Amino acid sequence: MEKIVINGGKPLMGSVEISGMKNAALGVLFATVLVEGTCVIENLPDISDVSVTLEILREMGAEIRRLDATTYSINTKRFDLGASPMELTRKMRASYYLIGAELGRFHQASSGLPGGCDFGVRPIDQHIKGFEAMGAKVLVDGGRIEADAKSGLFGGQIYFDNTSVGATINMLLAASRAKGMTVIENAAKEPHVVDVANFLNACGARISGAGTDVIKIRGVERLHGCTYAIIPDMIEAATFMIAAVATGGTLRIRNVIPKHLESVSAKLEEMGVSIEEEDEEIIVSAQERLNRVHIRTMPYPGFPTDVQPQICVLLCLARGTSILYEGVWDNRFRYVDELRRMGADIKVEGKTAIVEGVGNLSAATVHAIDLRAGVAMVIAGLSAKGTTVVEGVQYIQRGYDNIVGKLKAVGADIKKITVPDGQKYEIAN
Ligand code: EPU
Repeated sequence: MEKIVINGGKPLMGSVEISGMKNAALGVLFATVLVEGTCVIENLPDISDVSVTLEILREMGAEIRRLDATTYSINTKRFDLGASPMELTRKMRASYYLIGAELGRFHQASSGLPGGCDFGVRPIDQHIKGFEAMGAKVLVDGGRIEADAKSGLFGGQIYFDNTSVGATINMLLAASRAKGMTVIENAAKEPHVVDVANFLNACGARISGAGTDVIKIRGVERLHGCTYAIIPDMIEAATFMIAAVATGGTLRIRNVIPKHLESVSAKLEEMGVSIEEEDEEIIVSAQERLNRVHIRTMPYPGFPTDVQPQICVLLCLARGTSILYEGVWDNRFRYVDELRRMGADIKVEGKTAIVEGVGNLSAATVHAIDLRAGVAMVIAGLSAKGTTVVEGVQYIQRGYDNIVGKLKAVGADIKKITVPDGQKYEIAN
């Protein structure tokens, strides 16, 4: 079992380079199924969700070559619909993109029902509604999802009942090669939706309006290969911004799009943090005191739900009572029990957490219960004096490229260790 061991209380100082965005990379990788020709995808993060996606594509017949540390060429000419590896598709949420991509290219699709982090019910009714509007029949049974558009896939009018990143991207995939025009209303506006649309357009698709809540897609007969670089990961960037503040440090965060981070920067400034923006960099400097704030997570451009556990750590370190409302997922506060082990004073009432600032957290052994909750434990450990051990490292590795190495390079005393199962790691505090 791997664990992260942190001797906290050291300010992070220096500069850190942000990797390509996980949730854009996953959409783009599955989108290559629609393309006849070779795609060269640059700036892919080295994370396990990307390796699992590449493994799924490889098992289904894609020819994949690693050209350098972050660049892969992918050709799905020999893609085999029947070879979908159920155990892998069930491991990750984004495997639902196989359905949109396969429907777009083959007019039929099948996959294991998607897995991913557990924060309450994660329905896919909006994806299904969209595919049906395009003429597909969809069946969900026995942990599988099957879709079929025997007489062809046609452009449709789709209104989403709630904004869904996954459903919006899935419609981009299916509609890119459908006959006629698809219009998505109440579309998600996240930068990764725009990135997938830009990739598809670079392959010859005709998508307009991505980044607004109405997207139009005029289907084309085929898509050709291209070279495409994934955008920087705004959630990774926000995580480092918060880590800098939690440790009382100063970090220059490189390779970011500051606009994507406006909601996070605004809240940090409200807390009293100093933020400077340059073209592709953000400099974050902690100040003496952190003010309490109220935060509500919302779809983009609102404050991202994927930064909610990390900012919760800062609210613990602030003065006074902060209110954190989760506006996207039903159950994304399960990690609070872990923070309480470190001395946090948090009351959860439904989708609201009431956080009493306690000034400092104390070192402890804690568990990463999912990806973002896990990285929040790392931030808490970096801020707390003494030795914190974070278990469940595999969750963090789903979405953070070399997090231990990057933190070490800016002054953290942090290491990853492997402990044989059943053996305890003794902390010498
Ligand atoms: N929803 C429905 N029906 C649907 C789809 C979604 O009711 O058919 C609801 C969900 O239950 C949720 C809300 O709509 O309450 C938003 O879900 P969305 O579909 O936008 O989430 P997702 O596409 O499954 C992606 C990211 C998540 C991120 C959310 C919200 C990927 C692979 N995952 O999930 O990222 O939290 O958007 O921004 O892109 C993470 O990276 O840690 C992560 C969990």
